[in-house]
Amino acid sequence: MTKHELDLESLREPLVTPFANEQERRGEASLRPTQLSEFVGQRELIGHLEVVLGSAKSRGQTLDHLLFAGPPGLGKTSLASIVANEMGSGLRVTSGPVLSRPGDLAALMSDLQDGDVLFIDEIHRLSRAVEEVLYPAMEDRRLDVMIGRGPSARSIRLDLAHFTLVGATTRTGLVAAPLRDRFGFVGQLDLYASDELATIVVRSAGLLEVEIAATAAVVIARRSRGTPRIANRLLRRVRDFASYNDHPTLSDEVTLDALALFGVDELGLDKIDRRILGLLCDQFANQPVGLTTLAHACGEEPSTIEEAYEPFLLREGLIVRTPRGRVATERAFAHVGRQGGLKSLF
Ligand SMILES: Nc1ncnc2c1ncn2[C@@H]1O[C@H](COP(=O)(O)OP(=O)(O)O)[C@@H](O)[C@H]1O
Ligand SMILES: [Mg+2]
Repeated sequence: MTKHELDLESLREPLVTPFANEQERRGEASLRPTQLSEFVGQRELIGHLEVVLGSAKSRGQTLDHLLFAGPPGLGKTSLASIVANEMGSGLRVTSGPVLSRPGDLAALMSDLQDGDVLFIDEIHRLSRAVEEVLYPAMEDRRLDVMIGRGPSARSIRLDLAHFTLVGATTRTGLVAAPLRDRFGFVGQLDLYASDELATIVVRSAGLLEVEIAATAAVVIARRSRGTPRIANRLLRRVRDFASYNDHPTLSDEVTLDALALFGVDELGLDKIDRRILGLLCDQFANQPVGLTTLAHACGEEPSTIEEAYEPFLLREGLIVRTPRGRVATERAFAHVGRQGGLKSLF
């Protein structure tokens, strides 16, 4: 194994955030599963996908449009490329915020070949004008585009190839109903269980050519907020730490030392998670807090709190949602070293 430098810049970044920066996104490509059989977890969704893909293939038909929904880092982008791969199709990738004008979408779509997969990430962030061009394209493979301006403007109709649209969103509820209804299949991804994450860590370690003890993979898995992206990131950082200290294998001891140095706690809580719990346990102790207030106090968008942070805190029984707002549970108070809180259901 080559000796890695400890990247001090990366040490200052939040380690357990579910979001990836540009550099990490590039690195992730090498760890992506390429086939359905390599995709760990999400068994029900994968089972359904096998049927949907298998039947399109056996009938020789174009695959239905698919929508994947779930918190960041759970495998939506990976699934889009797996789908293209399994169908033996070309893949074009774009995202809601990038497609700012209908012309951008028209240019992309008129270039598609029969069978191609067009992946639109963050599809809930498409503008209304772009969405309206998308409807007839999804339904009838028809594109109406305006040519020219002012009195000489006219609309021309283009016929599109038999393509499959794959959309990704953090929550299906964010996608306008008329758009959602045009997908033939909607798959929901949920946070992963620790044993599934441990399997992903072992697989990634193999790809990174680093030896890891099975028990150390479990340690990493448990601190990964149910999120494969975080599991892979922690693995890389533990690998860097081990290599810096000349440890050839990632043992439990090395892994625990590295995670302690990086400040990743036993539950894998991020700075924002801790801020949320701090607010609910201190400033607003035993009072329900509304989403907007909470987001404001954390310096985050309400949607970020709701889509990226709350699912994990709710699953772990650290907070509960009441009709009047969010409340910390006894477990949350214990975690921040205080007494109080609603009795958790877990
Ligand atoms: N089920 C899985 N099995 C193996 N690796 C996974 C799985 N889900 C996600 N990953 C890994 O986690 C990282 C983030 O996945 P990605 O598909 O980009 O998530 P999303 O698009 O939902 O944010 C990628 O490196 C990917 O390889
Ligand atoms: Mg993605």
